[in-house]
Amino acid sequence: MTTVDLPLLPLGRGVDRASERGVECPGDLPPVSDPDLVERARAAKEALGEKLFVLGHHYQRDEVIQFADVTGDSFKLARDAAGRPEAEYVVFCGVHFMAESADILTAEHQQVVLPDLAAGCSMADMARLPQVEAAWEALEAAGVTEQVVPVTYMNSSADIKAFCGRHDGLVCTSSNAETALRWAFDQRGGVEGDGKVLFLPDQHLGRNTAVLELGMALDDCVVWNPLLPNGGLTEAELRDARMILWKGHCSVHGRFSPTVVDELRAKDPDIQILVHPECRHEVVLKADLIGSTEFIIKTIEAAPAGSSWAIGTELNLVQRLARAHPDKKIAFLDRNVCYCSTMNRIDLPHFVWALENLVAGQVVNRIEVDDDTQRDALVALQRMLDLPGRSHKD
Ligand code: 13P
Ligand code: SF4
Repeated sequence: MTTVDLPLLPLGRGVDRASERGVECPGDLPPVSDPDLVERARAAKEALGEKLFVLGHHYQRDEVIQFADVTGDSFKLARDAAGRPEAEYVVFCGVHFMAESADILTAEHQQVVLPDLAAGCSMADMARLPQVEAAWEALEAAGVTEQVVPVTYMNSSADIKAFCGRHDGLVCTSSNAETALRWAFDQRGGVEGDGKVLFLPDQHLGRNTAVLELGMALDDCVVWNPLLPNGGLTEAELRDARMILWKGHCSVHGRFSPTVVDELRAKDPDIQILVHPECRHEVVLKADLIGSTEFIIKTIEAAPAGSSWAIGTELNLVQRLARAHPDKKIAFLDRNVCYCSTMNRIDLPHFVWALENLVAGQVVNRIEVDDDTQRDALVALQRMLDLPGRSHKD
């Protein structure tokens, strides 16, 4: 694998917390252990021809993403998943919830494969259906369910998407969260009305969108902690809140810090800070631009030569952008943040194994959502896909 010397910021900082613990992120993944694997992947893909459709999320390793027919953020991949009805096999290079959504959105005859079943998402795991049902019961007890629309981030399991479908809610991604939230509030009298949103499972995307895009106050938001009785909230707090945020977060984006942003600006007043909305509110408040991975890519593509950027999102993508734009100064926002370990589970050995099995007529690691869940989750996904446009940023 080609590597690039990408500065890990903050530049010139002393010993950081991670390196003190001896676990500093090395910055580059090790090279592919077996160079024959690239050739084997090529041969298997060629042998499968039109039968195969490979989707790749922007956080995937270079060794894998090079084989994707379509790359994208979560929204683009959901929209494009059904784009090749002639393909018998859809191999998803991403994480489990994305493959589930692809299974829901593709035709009956298409089989979705996730090359490594361990490629999950810690954020999606922070909301389980029984916990969400318990929260709904608490909202019922507080007498507010008539006012509440559940909205789940794409980064959630299919049964939670189905829950939202059953309760007049919808799915959103980081590229259409504002539009989705406006749609949800519109179902209950508009943003200025007395409707509420139960936002699952990423508290940061929910808070950032409500406050920065919809103009709500931080006080309009409460956090539901599924590990505490009644979510750690009183019935009065549930009645007063406009946004009930699930206590979930991304373990990668949650680590970027506002202090580093200040240090970078002090060193380079021209630097622009570009972050994903899964980052904490304190970080997003200090950023110049906020958006999904697709937005981050488009922003860097359109940036003038010589411009200076620090990007707060997953490291594989930032490294790829730095390599693709050597005329721009592109750095990673923080030294203490590493790759998304679950996205990285999809490596070339797993990819080749999945493809070679398909060539041999065996479908391995098939992701199959049961019919009932699929029906209800599709309602919530379709509501998202039917939203007008995506966001003002796309
Ligand atoms: P997007 O694909 O919406 O940018 O989200 C990033 C992410 O964390 C996916 O897991
Ligand atoms: Fe989940 Fe965060 Fe990894 Fe995305 S980057 S898959 S939200 S842990």
